[in-house]
Amino acid sequence: MNSPETAAVDTNFLHTLSVLYVEDEEEVRTALTKFLRRRFHRVDVAENGSQGLELFRGDGYDVVVTDVKMPVMDGLEMARQIKFYREEVPVIVVTAYNETDYFLRAIEVGVDRYVKKPVDPNLLIEAIYKATQVRFQERELEISRQRILDTLTQTIAALSRAIEKRASYTDSHQKRVAQLAEAIAQEMGREKEQVLGIKLGALIHDIGFISVPAEILVKPGRLDPTEMAIIKTHAHEGGEILGDIDFPWPIATIIRQHHERWDGSGYPEGLKGEEITLEARIVAVADVVEAMSSHRPYRAALGIDAALAEIQANRGKLYDSAVVDCCLKVMEKNNRNFW
Ligand SMILES: [Fe+2]
Ligand SMILES: [Fe+2]
Repeated sequence: MNSPETAAVDTNFLHTLSVLYVEDEEEVRTALTKFLRRRFHRVDVAENGSQGLELFRGDGYDVVVTDVKMPVMDGLEMARQIKFYREEVPVIVVTAYNETDYFLRAIEVGVDRYVKKPVDPNLLIEAIYKATQVRFQERELEISRQRILDTLTQTIAALSRAIEKRASYTDSHQKRVAQLAEAIAQEMGREKEQVLGIKLGALIHDIGFISVPAEILVKPGRLDPTEMAIIKTHAHEGGEILGDIDFPWPIATIIRQHHERWDGSGYPEGLKGEEITLEARIVAVADVVEAMSSHRPYRAALGIDAALAEIQANRGKLYDSAVVDCCLKVMEKNNRNFW
């Protein structure tokens, strides 16, 4: 909590706020309500904590200003319940008390600021301004962070479509791998941010195909060993393409490692076990399951049952057991009809 300080108050900003004002003393309430209504977008008034809580539950407010000692329900009990309900809404307490007991309760409840009675209206305005500014800046920051994230996701999705347009056999492959990898990661209980990174990495895991000649990509029938070696370069090449972008997730690593296998038999580096990043181990399983259940120029779709039999048979050999188990769970939950 604060002691009041002087601050330059942006009155235009105040005009955008809705305020819940709770005070039992009629005289104080009338005077202060009049004052507040000239400065804020909306001011609703209650005579005790219980009434205040009812108003708050119905409407929600940007800020709450309350007296402490009131009949029916006191200001701190109301503040406690408001904070429980919506922790981010600032509560400013107007009080004549100075006792330790009150301060302890106020801290416990999470009161943001206090203003001493009799109220100096300008100090009250300052306190409201300071308490709400922080929240609004946080909100603005969160909105712009989300906007950047959305743009990034859309850019990656566009890149994904560009690769798939060129290599028509991968039609929607990456998108479908991304959906499954995301579901597996969620099933594994990974954090939201990490899940997003896995999804985005999966969405462009085959970006390295851009450096593989189109005739190899669309060739029907089996590839000869030279062609196969060229195909295999896509993992390393993809990692190179994205390597310089400082993503908040290990996107380039996912791309580079998505053909590595648990027993070290994969490529390009022959990494083993946990040397392969978890994100890539997840994408690897999703990739195999999607690829086997879909049509390819050189073969018909093998079907989901064959794909799941493959990961089950190689659980702990080619693929991370925990990832395989979660993939099987995801598939069972969707009656093997995931896409
Ligand atoms: Fe690949
Ligand atoms: Fe793939």
